[in-house]
Amino acid sequence: MVFEPADPSRRAAFAAAGLLTAGAVLSLPGCAKPAADAGKKGAADVSATEDLMREHGVLRRLLVIYRETAGVIRAAAATLDLAALGQAADLFRRFGENYHEKALEEAHIFPMVKKAGGAGSSLIDTLIAQHRRGREINDYVTGLATSGRLGTGQAEPLAAALESFARMYEIHAAMEDTVVFQAWRDSLNAKELDSWSDKFEDIEHQTFKGDGFDLALEQVAGIEQRLGLSDLARYTAPAPPAT
Ligand SMILES: [Fe+2]
Ligand SMILES: [Fe+2]
Repeated sequence: MVFEPADPSRRAAFAAAGLLTAGAVLSLPGCAKPAADAGKKGAADVSATEDLMREHGVLRRLLVIYRETAGVIRAAAATLDLAALGQAADLFRRFGENYHEKALEEAHIFPMVKKAGGAGSSLIDTLIAQHRRGREINDYVTGLATSGRLGTGQAEPLAAALESFARMYEIHAAMEDTVVFQAWRDSLNAKELDSWSDKFEDIEHQTFKGDGFDLALEQVAGIEQRLGLSDLARYTAPAPPAT
């Protein structure tokens, strides 16, 4: 089972990139096993909070793609792989916005945390506003990617939008990881957490007709590879200046 964009034009783009080939698992570090043999038992192995946080891991990898792409746009816009950027925006839409944000956070977690009160509750309105802003930016990125080319004057605004999105979502996910998800978990007893873990697993399988995390992980690794961003060592910081 592969994670397939519903939009035919996006599906074609994924197919062209070889990302929809059944069983075509990339031999990259961090790349998922095929869903069929993922060996993921479910709630007993991956709690709802761990699931949410590793979903953030996939989204953070897309933020890195956005940041790196912004650098390419500024340094050498003619070399930009706009279609690959469109794939990243499409994956963010399907896995981040439609599933993680709408089906889990907005439908279940946020209302419960808001009702519980406390520090987590005071963040919810801003987190929802940031989801909305993120969707606006991803719409903008997708529109440019679908057009197939950057027109005069579009390069810098696109680079700025990608960077501002990454800046926003980095702290957004960090506050969810450290405050909101912990508040949600604290509001549940062990049995309730198990039940929610099962429920989230069901939502994931209904949404993606398979293991959405493994499918998204496979796809983000494919986009990284296409853009030459798959070598972890390229991000190792240079040594500091001698003092
Ligand atoms: Fe969120
Ligand atoms: Fe989130």
